Amino acid sequence: MTKQKTVLVVNGPNLQMLGLRQVEIYGKTTLSEIIASLAEQAQGQPGLQVADFQSNSEGQIVDFLNERFTRHHQKTALVAGLVVNAASLSHTSIAIRDAIEMYTQESVPFVEVHLSNVFRREQFRHHSHLSALADAVITGLGPLGYKAAMSFILAKQEG
Ligand code: DQA
Repeated sequence: MTKQKTVLVVNGPNLQMLGLRQVEIYGKTTLSEIIASLAEQAQGQPGLQVADFQSNSEGQIVDFLNERFTRHHQKTALVAGLVVNAASLSHTSIAIRDAIEMYTQESVPFVEVHLSNVFRREQFRHHSHLSALADAVITGLGPLGYKAAMSFILAKQEG
């Protein structure tokens, strides 16, 4: 029997507003549409599922990552990979960075995603505390960035 594994898709502040929020930057696709397309993508791989979490609160994101990590570590619910758009918290949160590092230390693939090209925007968006931990950073591809991240994680399961 294939062992069940989960891809965690974590989104930070204001991303629940996608579709309404600055559509010229972030586009019209909603977060639920993004998550639905990832769940569909994962269906192609037996034993793989998607768990998504969005919060405007740094602490809740850390709690979610910690709770899932505990189960991963205990081998009661294995994590196949992390797709994280921590939004503004990418630029400020060492706590989220530290929560992700527990996974990367156990070689769980991690892709950092930004819908917009952060390097074409304000200087304060150019640095992310998460990037140095990431296997890949995808910035500026819009919703396609999440799909690319998922494809990378799916490919890692095979190899
Ligand atoms: C973002 C870029 C961040 O700078 C910003 O604070 C966001 C979204 C993106 O997806 O492009 O909220 O992560």
